Amino acid sequence: MFSRRRFLGLGGIGMLALSSGCQPPFLTRSVHGSDRFADSLGRKASRKHLKYRVLGYPINMNDPPEEFFAWRRELFQAGIDAFAFNNVGNPFKTSPIPYNTHDFERETILVFGKRFDFPTDDTWGFLSHSGTDSNMHGMYMGRTVLQSRTGVLPKAYFTREAHYSVAVLRDLLGLEAVIVRTSPDGGMDPGDLGRKLTENANFPALVVATVGTTFKGAIDNIDLIQQQLRSHASYVHVDAALFGGYLPFTPHAAAVSYRSGKTADSGRYDSIAVSCHKFFGFPSPAGLFITKQSLFDEFTERFSEIHNPEYIHQVPGTITCSRDAVKPAEFYYFATPPALAQQTEQAIQMLKNAAYLWEQLRTHFPHLSPMRANPLSNTVYFRSPGDAIVQKYSLATMHLEIDDKPVKFAHVVVMPHVSQDVLAEFLADLQSSRG
Ligand SMILES: Cc1ncc(COP(=O)(O)O)c(C=O)c1O
Repeated sequence: MFSRRRFLGLGGIGMLALSSGCQPPFLTRSVHGSDRFADSLGRKASRKHLKYRVLGYPINMNDPPEEFFAWRRELFQAGIDAFAFNNVGNPFKTSPIPYNTHDFERETILVFGKRFDFPTDDTWGFLSHSGTDSNMHGMYMGRTVLQSRTGVLPKAYFTREAHYSVAVLRDLLGLEAVIVRTSPDGGMDPGDLGRKLTENANFPALVVATVGTTFKGAIDNIDLIQQQLRSHASYVHVDAALFGGYLPFTPHAAAVSYRSGKTADSGRYDSIAVSCHKFFGFPSPAGLFITKQSLFDEFTERFSEIHNPEYIHQVPGTITCSRDAVKPAEFYYFATPPALAQQTEQAIQMLKNAAYLWEQLRTHFPHLSPMRANPLSNTVYFRSPGDAIVQKYSLATMHLEIDDKPVKFAHVVVMPHVSQDVLAEFLADLQSSRG
């Protein structure tokens, strides 16, 4: 086992710079033949303690626990992230490249699949590059399956509150968009969905339901969506990039559960996307994509007509050929019992902190019209304070229509690093800014 110092020395210049907190000019010189990046690394290191002030984006800025770094060192000793491993292909099949981490990838998918109540003997998935990448696979699968079942290209249904990647992917997949109106809380309006389905009765529906919309933290109610879809050829992909990370660890797990609890066999949705760098705090972007093995088999039957690469000895079922082998092995740490226990604690605390922030804003800053879409949400949005606060806390801002006029709002996403201390500083700054 390598010591942490030795591992970091081998593992990369950024890690060494950040861990030591000082400039490493010798290292940048040895890597680049010049010290032109020494200043940049020094600046990054000197800002490290300010990361807890990032309140506007759904990224967990906590350092992962020391056990994670110990796991990384073990992986490195086995050659992972030391030479070219590659997870090309379906992680549930034998790979032509033996230097892969499909075993960790499979196990991670099965552990999280169980959290989402997928049938244990009928779960498939992979570790993608990001939430967006998982959405891409979900929408591509939905398009392929629906077109294969009906012979007609589906239309893509989503709301304006959906993440912008959904509109981009709709464009990429050449699908016509059907924009569904939202209810006052920002969730998909089931009545409007029903009307739009009737207007488009001759087209299958690929519905992207968001559980935890990016700005408002609203929820598209999957059960109400399914009621509208009853007699329509459809595929429901759930974008739970942020909420899908923490809800399974809370009393609100049913909101992202594959099963309704009433019907043991039929699912509430077809596939789900979750980001790994959001709630879990995995240090670089990655995503979970989970669906049913039987649905994936249906998809690959059609997929193999489009693309059957004899060259890799299998139909991969994934869009990209080469896939990262390092991240699935590293992210496996988050599927282990101690990490799952820690995630439970963090999820509960995060929702308590979000409730606290909302209460404080409602009590002391009613002029900011604070809103929290629902008790499952870790996001609180309010009329934007001044630029100084927006910058200090990296707040995301957006114009919302209030009485037919655009009003600038900001939001705080209460991630695990957003402690009561950080919130106290933020609230004190809000108070001082009132003058
Ligand atoms: C609801 C939702 N979906 C998808 C994404 C994109 O996820 P990623 O950044 O992992 O691509 C985000 C990012 O904020 C999001 O909020």
